[in-house]
Amino acid sequence: MQEKLIRHTKEAFLSAFQSDPERIFLAPGRINIIGEHVDYSDGFVLPAAIDKHICFAVKKLNNSESCTFFAVDFNDSFSFNTNQKQTPVSQTWVNYLLGVFNAIQESGKAIGGLQIAFSSTIPMGSGLSSSAALECGFAFILNEIFNLNLSKKDLALIGQKSEHTFVGVKCGIMDQFASVFGKEHQVIMLDCNSLEHQYFEANLEGHSLVLFDSCVKHTHLTSGYNDRRKDVDKGKKKLWEKFPEIEKFRDFSFSMLDEVRPEIGEISYKRCLYLLKEIKRVEKAAKALSEGDTRYLGELLTETHSGLSTEFEVSCKELDFMVEETLKEDGVSGARIMGGGFGGCSINLIKDENVDEVIKNISAKYKMYFNIEMKVYRVKISDGIKEYKRNEFVI
Ligand code: GLA
Repeated sequence: MQEKLIRHTKEAFLSAFQSDPERIFLAPGRINIIGEHVDYSDGFVLPAAIDKHICFAVKKLNNSESCTFFAVDFNDSFSFNTNQKQTPVSQTWVNYLLGVFNAIQESGKAIGGLQIAFSSTIPMGSGLSSSAALECGFAFILNEIFNLNLSKKDLALIGQKSEHTFVGVKCGIMDQFASVFGKEHQVIMLDCNSLEHQYFEANLEGHSLVLFDSCVKHTHLTSGYNDRRKDVDKGKKKLWEKFPEIEKFRDFSFSMLDEVRPEIGEISYKRCLYLLKEIKRVEKAAKALSEGDTRYLGELLTETHSGLSTEFEVSCKELDFMVEETLKEDGVSGARIMGGGFGGCSINLIKDENVDEVIKNISAKYKMYFNIEMKVYRVKISDGIKEYKRNEFVI
């Protein structure tokens, strides 16, 4: 699949710029086993990079200040002068990239001319973080080509900043971190407060994580994502006013939250309650995962779905249906909506021998109920952003 994507992107580069690219980079999407919406609330998350990528074909232009992007999948391009300050433009896809450029320029680093064509196998609006792959992929390329000396952590933070400042989504750090730091076969346990992280082998004991794409598309610019953050911020503000000695959100207790409940109102209360519970679930899930306790891990995933649906209210009728029906199937340990919500994919923990049957049954039910063809992704946990070396395999 990667070979096809690379070939396609190289050919598109050639037809757009009338010469061959010099270097190829691959930036992956991500799954998240558990820990939703807690990345902007001092929580832990358990993401991993996957074998779906944005491929960038790149050529450096010496003695030039012109940078041109060709978005192969949109058949759209954009050029700008790297000596000038940039501001957001009307093409959303461009803003992910310009925001990265802007963050690097503001830090006083110099960037020269470039031609870039990119194409993707990460479905957009499906909760697999194509945005983070785009931002961080570009940051990685600039770092490599112009020797900017940025650390991997810097690259993830630059990607997040781009999304905050140029795109307008107040995302957490999970997606960018996973795209940059991913490792084959390894899940990342990330402390979103300190950005300390550790890798561990996902021990699924004869089970697979399979994604069902509801094909309900969303963008977090309009989805309600930023509103959820506001609800949470309202709760946090009161909590810290009342308990200033507490350092991290995750250290507030349920009884402290109860104390501010009348002041913050029911909506903020529900949002914060979900977050405190989810942060605790992630710690339990990490243990279950490392011990191969798929039954308990599955239970935790399902609890997360119920929290995301009823307390955080970021699910939708299609995903609720999908999860509910999936849980009735033999061999399913757990299921939940994954990512920011409002559409996208569910992540399902299914016994290997039952996977085909579950897919068949849920696809049929989903089609019958919503008249939508569900898509299925059997993803592999893969490396983070990297350069693809020409001699690694024949393209
Ligand atoms: C989106 C955001 C992330 C995170 C998830 C929910 O993917 O980009 O930062 O908040 O939603 O866990």
